[in-house]
Amino acid sequence: MSNALYRDLKKLVTLTEKNADFSNDNLRLKFHLMPPVGWLNDPNGLCKMDEYYHVFYQYSPFDSNGGVKHWGHFRSKDLINWEQLPVAMYPDQPFDVHGVYSGSALIENHKMYLYYTGNVKLDGDYDYVLTGREHNTVLAVSSDGITVDYKKLLMKNSDYPENLTCHVRDPKVFKFENKYYMIQGARTKENRGVLLVFQSDDKINWEYINTISTPEIFGYMWECPDLFYLDGMWFLVCSPQGVTKQGNHYQNIYSCGYFPLYGDFRGEYTLGEFQELDFGFDFYAPQTFFDGTRRIMLGWLGMPDADYTNPTKNWQHCLTSFCTLKRSGSTIYRYPVAEMNLLRGSEIKPEDATVFDLEYRFSQSGRIIIRNSLVIEWSEDLLSISHIKGGNGRTIRKVDVYNINSIRVLADTSSVEIFINGGLKVLSTRYYPENDDKGIILPEHGHARIWEMNHFNITKDI
Ligand code: FRU
Repeated sequence: MSNALYRDLKKLVTLTEKNADFSNDNLRLKFHLMPPVGWLNDPNGLCKMDEYYHVFYQYSPFDSNGGVKHWGHFRSKDLINWEQLPVAMYPDQPFDVHGVYSGSALIENHKMYLYYTGNVKLDGDYDYVLTGREHNTVLAVSSDGITVDYKKLLMKNSDYPENLTCHVRDPKVFKFENKYYMIQGARTKENRGVLLVFQSDDKINWEYINTISTPEIFGYMWECPDLFYLDGMWFLVCSPQGVTKQGNHYQNIYSCGYFPLYGDFRGEYTLGEFQELDFGFDFYAPQTFFDGTRRIMLGWLGMPDADYTNPTKNWQHCLTSFCTLKRSGSTIYRYPVAEMNLLRGSEIKPEDATVFDLEYRFSQSGRIIIRNSLVIEWSEDLLSISHIKGGNGRTIRKVDVYNINSIRVLADTSSVEIFINGGLKVLSTRYYPENDDKGIILPEHGHARIWEMNHFNITKDI
């Protein structure tokens, strides 16, 4: 499938990627996926098709501060060795011309069905909430998992229920009990964040069947929803916008977490208490997929519209580490996939650490300082991170945890992810230490192991 716009955009993106030179850039990451050039946000279309894991992502190659979204693409057989593939989707159709927005993948009979939102902003004096915006639901089919055979417009705003604003997006599609289901995030006219449920027999024709929300308004818009069955229970993940800060909760401009869902998402249901998935500065729009043995989550290690920034030049943002999800009661544990351990090099002394994996067990309060830039401090039931240098506006974040006894820290050149008590609570943040700043200062007590981390091997096919 190609048209004149597709062909020119393809040439331009290839040229832009080829001209990007990051040879002296110490902030480029070693074991996280990041844009070849320009801007990245949400992970999209996560799946495993035949022997390959696929990661697509929101990508604006021409502008590191955002711009019209494409779908960038990586694939891998082992989550360690990656191929950077050509852009999978360009904004080249009337129904997606202002952005190939977020979406998901369904794999069936060795074919990839990518569902996404085609964003269109009309010219004129519009507020782009109630008027002036089209959010189209689009299907793109790929037989080889690399090129898109065709795109097909499935639904327009007029096909969605009536009480909604123009904001209906980020379809997540899955198969359950011999039917297909699609959930979408939406903002109602009363500024309530909701989730719409659609049903289909053929992957093409969709019928709206239910709306899921909380009894009290919980944010004005739920972005990037996901709904999955994990170890015997349903969970609804979403990224709500407009949730008010409460103590140590919802500290970022936008939130991200999950509700346990009791009952039937197609009919009568109740949502349990919302739990945040991350307590750091930079975590948003995660998506999950099942790879045959486990449910894996990948998020955006960034935060839209935040008042803190990133000093990276000609590129911005990255994805999180790949994590598996496990359930305990109605709580989800999020912990790095076992493959991350294969990236461990030799064990190193704290003073030599720059890019590292730290496992630390303890039974007392304490404090760790990473590269003279980030302080992690904890008592029995509270952990905080504070940027003392290189936070670019990031200050302090706190999380309440009962009986803290271990942390794992994955520190890349310019990101840190902290997993408390085996993934019960997580904090993710970007940080920007100076080149000379290295080493970890650890408390005297406890038991620490630190490994130097090797990097992803990324080959380019552009
Ligand atoms: C979340 C989001 C999605 C949207 C995409 C556009 O970060 O706003 O709702 O589809 O980003 O890039």
